[in-house]
Amino acid sequence: MEIQPFNEAEISAFRAETAGTAERIHFNNAGASLPPDVVVRTMVDFLREEALYGGYEMEARHRNRLDHTHTLIAQLINSNPDEIALTENASAAWDIAFNGLPFQPGDEVITTEMEYISNMLGLLNAQKLYGIVIKMISNDAAGNFQTDALEAAITPRTKLIAATHIPSTAGNVLPVAAIGKVARKHNIVYLLDACQSAGQIPLNVAAIGCDMLAVTGRKYLRGPRGSGFLYVRKAMQDKLKLMCFDGRTVTSIDTQNFTVRPDARRFEWYEKNPAVVLGLQKAVEYALNIGIDRIWQRVRHVASLFRNRLGELDGITVHDQGDELCGIVTFSVTGIPATEVRTKLAAKNINVHIGLAKSTLYYMNRKGLDGIVRASVHYYNTEEEIEQVCRELRSIFL
Ligand SMILES: Cc1ncc(COP(=O)(O)O)c(C=O)c1O
Repeated sequence: MEIQPFNEAEISAFRAETAGTAERIHFNNAGASLPPDVVVRTMVDFLREEALYGGYEMEARHRNRLDHTHTLIAQLINSNPDEIALTENASAAWDIAFNGLPFQPGDEVITTEMEYISNMLGLLNAQKLYGIVIKMISNDAAGNFQTDALEAAITPRTKLIAATHIPSTAGNVLPVAAIGKVARKHNIVYLLDACQSAGQIPLNVAAIGCDMLAVTGRKYLRGPRGSGFLYVRKAMQDKLKLMCFDGRTVTSIDTQNFTVRPDARRFEWYEKNPAVVLGLQKAVEYALNIGIDRIWQRVRHVASLFRNRLGELDGITVHDQGDELCGIVTFSVTGIPATEVRTKLAAKNINVHIGLAKSTLYYMNRKGLDGIVRASVHYYNTEEEIEQVCRELRSIFL
C-alpha cells in the first residue's frame, strides 16, 4: 500500500501541537525529542491530581488507564501486552535482558560495530565476570552490515546475537530482520537495541525475529525522560534469570518459596512514576495515530534533504554511510571542534549534539572519528529549518 506523505497542513499541525518548535530548531531528536504538548499536559494533570488525592489512591483510580500503556506499546511493536515490561530507559531494559542470560566461560556473543556504549559495557563486564568471548561484525566499505559475516561467525558456542538497530553516532540502519533470520535459523537468542528506532521506524518483533528488544521513551517516540520498555518474547521469559524482586514480581510467596508472575511484568519494578507512564502512553498513542510508516517516510525525506544540502557546503563532511539511512545526520566542519559548532549553533537557537567515540566505539575507532556533530531530525522538522541551519553554518564557519 502506498504511504501518503504528510502535507503542509499536517506538518504545521504537528508543530502547533509542540510548544518547543516555536522557540528553537530542535535537531537533537536522537538525544531527547520535543514532546507533543499533550504528553506534557497528561503528566502535569496527573501529578496535580496525585498531590490532591494521594499516590496510591490515584493509581487505584487509574489502574485500567495505566495498564493500557502495555497494550499500546504491544501494538507499536506487534507483540502482546504480557510481553512488555516498563523500565526507566533503554540501558535498564537491555541490562535486564542481557544479565538474565546464563553465560558460561567460552560462550560467544556476536555483536556489531554499531553497538551502543551501555551494551558494550555489559558485554565487557560479562567477559570479565564469566569469560564470554565477544565477536564483532563490522560493516563493509560501503557502510552496510555484512549478514554473511554474521552467519560465518556462528559456532556451537554462540549464545547470543546483540545488535543495535540504529547507532547513537551514525545515520545507518542495520538490517535487523535479516539478522533475525540468521538468529532463528541457528536458534540463537537475539537481543535488539531499538532505542533510536522506536518511533522512527515501524517495528514488528515477529517480522524481526528478536527475542528481546530494548527501547527508551524520550527519543524518537517523543515521550518523557525516565521512560522506556523491554519486550521479552513469551517463550523467553522463563529462560531469563530474575535479578531483582519486589512484591509484584510474584503471584504468591510463603516462607519457603515463591511463584513468579506469568508475564513480562516480572521484569518491571512496581514503584515507578505513573505520570511518566501515562506520558509515555500518550506519546505512543500520538505516534500510532500519526502512523509510524508515514513518520518513517518523512524522517528519511527530511534527513536526506539535509545531507544533500550539507554535502553542497565546502568545509563540511557528512559521515553517514550505507544503503539505508535514518534521521540521524552526522558531520564535521573542517578545522572546527564539534563542541564549538554546537555552542555557536545553540546561540542561534539551534540544538545539535556531539557524537563521541566512546558511544559507538568499534565504528568510531575504525573510522578514526571522535567529537562529530550529530543533528537528528524528526518528522516535525521542516525544509525551512534545514535551510536556516545551513545558512548559519555557512555564515559562522565557512
Ligand atoms: C543506540 C542507543 N542505545 C541505547 C541507548 C541508551 O538509552 P538510555 O539512555 O535510554 O538508557 C542510547 C542512548 O543514547 C542509544 O543511542
